[in-house]
Amino acid sequence: MSFRVWLKANAADKVLAPLREELVALFDAGASVLDIGCGTGDLLFRASNKIGKGHGIDLDRQMIQYANNKLVECSATNLRFDCLNALELMQDSYDVVTSTLCLHEMDGGEACDILRQVSTMSGRLLIADYAEAHSLAGRIATEFDEMISGHYSKFRRYRQSGRIPAYARTCNLEVSQAIHSSIDGIVIWELQGKSP
Ligand SMILES: C[S@@+](CC[C@H](N)C(=O)[O-])C[C@H]1O[C@@H](n2cnc3c(N)ncnc32)[C@H](O)[C@@H]1O
Repeated sequence: MSFRVWLKANAADKVLAPLREELVALFDAGASVLDIGCGTGDLLFRASNKIGKGHGIDLDRQMIQYANNKLVECSATNLRFDCLNALELMQDSYDVVTSTLCLHEMDGGEACDILRQVSTMSGRLLIADYAEAHSLAGRIATEFDEMISGHYSKFRRYRQSGRIPAYARTCNLEVSQAIHSSIDGIVIWELQGKSP
């Protein structure tokens, strides 16, 4: 396992544990869930006892390999992980499409293409991503995290553009609720297609 994947599984996933629990609480029992940019698959592993089936996709081959190795070790037969660009998703349908801290990493155009694509696959999108942190410590943590991430310029453009609510407007989606995570600076936005 590379140091990068080890760090993700042993540090970032642990820091994000409260957010995972908040997302799992929003899934209906038995739901089918697609996780875009799933990383190590931590969210779906935590949800596996509640949901009907989970499909995680990520561009990063090493993350997907980690998730698939973990799948062999545990008995979560309702989960599946594929190394795939979200832009290349085949048409399929899910009760929920979710994504955590993924869309801020890309150009706004690409993020909107993904949102448009997945909104045809599910009536319920739960997007957890960066918002304005309330505390100074939260603002510093977000800045620091993004500065070392290698995609700071994309994060800045995401912030300047108005974040997920602005992407939703561009894609003609409605923000039906915005839930502030107990992790300061992260919001779970629930998006739905606008009624005609
Ligand atoms: C900050 S990580 C978050 C991972 C995970 N969602 C979590 O909460 O721990 C963002 C992930 O999105 C993935 N990603 C970025 N663009 C993607 C795309 N177009 N399709 C699929 N995955 C993508 C990256 O490879 C990375 O693993």
